[in-house]
Amino acid sequence: MTKPDAPIPILVTGGLGFIGSHTAVALYEAGFWPVLLDNLSNSRREVLQGIASITGKTFPFIEGDLRDAGVVRSIFEAHPDIAGVIHFAAFKAVGESVEKPLDYYENNLITLIHMLRELHNRGKGNLVFSSSCTVYGQADALPVAEDAPVKPAESPYGNTKQIGEEIIRDTVAATGMNVIALRYFNPIGAHPSASIGELPLGVPQNLVPFITQSVAGLRGELAVYGNDYPTRDGTAIRDYIHVMDLAEAHVAALHRMFRAESDRPEPYEVFNIGTGKGSTVLEVIRTFEVATGLKVPHRMAERRAGDVTAAWAETSRAEKVLGWKAQRSLAEALLDAWRWQVEQETA
Ligand code: WQD
Repeated sequence: MTKPDAPIPILVTGGLGFIGSHTAVALYEAGFWPVLLDNLSNSRREVLQGIASITGKTFPFIEGDLRDAGVVRSIFEAHPDIAGVIHFAAFKAVGESVEKPLDYYENNLITLIHMLRELHNRGKGNLVFSSSCTVYGQADALPVAEDAPVKPAESPYGNTKQIGEEIIRDTVAATGMNVIALRYFNPIGAHPSASIGELPLGVPQNLVPFITQSVAGLRGELAVYGNDYPTRDGTAIRDYIHVMDLAEAHVAALHRMFRAESDRPEPYEVFNIGTGKGSTVLEVIRTFEVATGLKVPHRMAERRAGDVTAAWAETSRAEKVLGWKAQRSLAEALLDAWRWQVEQETA
């Protein structure tokens, strides 16, 4: 068992990914000990050094795939004192999920089922689940609150998050496990040290990494997917949240889970993790240009299939129950994303 004064070990699956790596830093800074698992399908082993250059620590890293139930068992055999799990490991590209739905259903759901089963078999039960605002589809009312109706998913990826939440809800009802699901809005940016950040493989599908690669001259001009939306400037609206704010929300969720049962009315809670503010694509471009002094070459293009017009979070529940609120601005996130891009070029 962990020595009384040792930091509490927390398993972070997908721990070398974009959000996982930033959460590992936030966990350590909050006095936890991250144990990182990743199958390196969408990340690089060097991220471990980036985390170490920020924290001064090289955390335990397990290269493994949770689709293999034996791997899940071996993790807990090697680290029996894991007190909680933050489960990021999943495929997350919306477009790719449309082309390869079976890969997404198998990977995203089998890994979750193996993790839940192993936790239950070991009488453990503190799990933070990485969910997504895509479960709302195009919400009828904005900002969207946690009790808004879950709508038919726009993609197999979004459906795996909806089904994942249903699997968790039924498992908690049957076992009494402690689970918190965090519905992320749009994570962007990088750690201010520029030692870790987003590492999209191939052509970035997401807006901000495409902007930074375009400005760095690695890509052509940005195509703005649709300027005929019913919004203030015709381009779509999203709630862009600094990845470090998102990472810190996971620490707040762990603290919530470790509270006495008497303090927690429900063993399964769901929270929106966003800033509560919406920005259009053109506003992101302008904010980037003002923050960096650099122009973003862009052109108007057709809408992208599967995109919703607008989504931004109602965040009062996370503020009230988790005691968490996003602290960083859109400009700060875009500047940190640019610093990380520059660091990539000079690395
Ligand atoms: C943002 C806006 C695009 C690229 C995705 C996932 C979601 C979640 C967050 C994991 C949209 C526009 C984009 C480009 C553009 N991830 N855009 N040109 O689709 O809101 O959400 O990330 O949980 O599941 O779907 O993010 O960054 O792709 O797009 O105009 O080259 O930027 O149309 O309006 P999205 P995104």
